[in-house]
Amino acid sequence: MAQHHQKVVLVGDGAVGSSYAFALMQQGIAEELVIVDIMKERTEGDALDLEDAAPWTFNKNVYSGSYDDAKDADLVVITAGAPQKPGETRLDLVDKNLKIIKSIVSPIVESGFNGIFLVAANPVDILTMAVQKFSGFPKNRVFGSGTSLDTARLRMALAKKFNVSPEAVDAYILGEHGDSEFANFDEALIGGRPLKLWAAEAGISDADLDQILYDTAHKAYEIINRKGATFYGIGTSLARITRAIFRDEKMVLPVGAWMEGQYGLNDIYIGTPAVIGANGVEAVIEATLSEEEAAKMAASAKTLKEVAEGGFA
Ligand code: LAC
Repeated sequence: MAQHHQKVVLVGDGAVGSSYAFALMQQGIAEELVIVDIMKERTEGDALDLEDAAPWTFNKNVYSGSYDDAKDADLVVITAGAPQKPGETRLDLVDKNLKIIKSIVSPIVESGFNGIFLVAANPVDILTMAVQKFSGFPKNRVFGSGTSLDTARLRMALAKKFNVSPEAVDAYILGEHGDSEFANFDEALIGGRPLKLWAAEAGISDADLDQILYDTAHKAYEIINRKGATFYGIGTSLARITRAIFRDEKMVLPVGAWMEGQYGLNDIYIGTPAVIGANGVEAVIEATLSEEEAAKMAASAKTLKEVAEGGFA
């Protein structure tokens, strides 16, 4: 981590990138925010617009820049890439977005950047692997938003179902940030008490929980079909991860982390709880899984490996 104040270079100033930028400003997470995009006028306009919020918030230094500004940055967040269209899966985006990622990572590495890459462009697990391969950075300093957004969706759905705060829900979406993701219902807790006990007492069946998982995994499509894209949820998830890095929180968050034997998996990025701090992924937490859930993790990893091997791995 560069020894200076907390500087983020945001690459990609579309709906996700600008939502992330706004979240950073509102929450006072970074002290310097550089916005980079091929649409230079857009980044200039966004920086000028965000600057108007500065007197009422915390971050006083936001500007339109270039890849060279990454040389002394602590964090580069990559949201650039084609988003899903109605009817498209995230994996459908891999070819076009791989090319975009390659055009981004090389100049950033050449700038002398020596911080952390946080990837959100989809398919995020595949593109995170691409950023690591193209940059050659240590695996702990390249990771993805993974299933952080999915987990937020799951916790919100369970909170509404059981009439508790989402912060009381200790449940995770694991695996691919995509159609093969799954929930750790067998180990999940609400207020320190097994979710399955809460469900039994409330007359909520496993089929009902599976429906909650289905709705969670398909929520992005529901949003895209109605408003064309998703961005507030992912933008805020990226801001939460950024806060954990910049405050060196050692916070446990579900991110797309590199597997080195966890869950019996290797050489893949996949959604798992991890300890996030100043050095990025400081530890991967291998969530305890039931036999059925372990099979879902293996199936999800297989899906990702097939795509990665078809793309570049
Ligand atoms: C979603 C996009 C960010 O899940 O993949 O909304």
